[in-house]
Amino acid sequence: MYEQLYHQFSGIDDTHWWNIYRRELVGDLLKNTSFPEKSKILDAGCGTGGNLRFLARYSSELYGLDLSETAISFARQKNPGASIISGDINNINNFYRPGFFNLITIFNVLYHVWVKNDYDVLKKIFDLLSPGGILILSEPAFRLLWRNHDLLDMGKTRYSRRELSGLLEQCGFKIECATCFNSLSFFPALALKIAEIFLPAPDPEKSQIKELEINGALISAAALYLLSFERKIIKKFRSIPIGTTLLIKARKPA
Ligand SMILES: C[S@@+](CC[C@H](N)C(=O)[O-])C[C@H]1O[C@@H](n2cnc3c(N)ncnc32)[C@H](O)[C@@H]1O
Repeated sequence: MYEQLYHQFSGIDDTHWWNIYRRELVGDLLKNTSFPEKSKILDAGCGTGGNLRFLARYSSELYGLDLSETAISFARQKNPGASIISGDINNINNFYRPGFFNLITIFNVLYHVWVKNDYDVLKKIFDLLSPGGILILSEPAFRLLWRNHDLLDMGKTRYSRRELSGLLEQCGFKIECATCFNSLSFFPALALKIAEIFLPAPDPEKSQIKELEINGALISAAALYLLSFERKIIKKFRSIPIGTTLLIKARKPA
């Protein structure tokens, strides 16, 4: 990712409604999951560390890996007790023993151009999980929504639910939940994509992601209130078909 974005991301790790909402949904997915004592949790592509801090509620045995030194230094400051290393998810099997982790999270990492082969990475993640271990994965949804945001993030694609679920099943995972989320942003994102056709392209080396600037206490409270209805629907039906991001819970069979 472009360097300036790690600074932008770190600044909104805990305050942006989108981050808060994704953590609420992940919390819902993990609600009735019992973890053995001293469970090992890995956030692969941990970025600037806000999600690791959230994951601390499930275990104190926290691990993080990221390719960016800038991301790692932010993540270490926020999670002094976690073991956070510089590493490439493409070779993740070089860093940890097979079966070591009870929970692995990958939040918006696979879609990155630095990830060479999604199947290969997911197969390695499968091997790193203990039997019965859980993977939580979020990635951008709908190729139709491809826009400047993705270019700045150094994205390579966006995914369909079927495509990502299919890849996970090929690796041996059982899907427990696969849903889109953030349905309220779907049409605004589409409108923005159309508007971008008429706007000058951003300079990737310098630009911040404008959408992430739509934040602040009031906006956050309003967004989370509106999204609470979507959250209830996802809780009840385990899946909604529309949204800007995919969220999947998958398990390695015991
Ligand atoms: C969009 S950010 C997401 C950060 C965090 N997971 C989140 O959702 O807030 C993508 C992260 O993946 C990391 N990343 C991308 N390719 C990677 C790779 N091949 N190995 C390790 N980390 C990678 C980037 O450095 C960046 O921190």
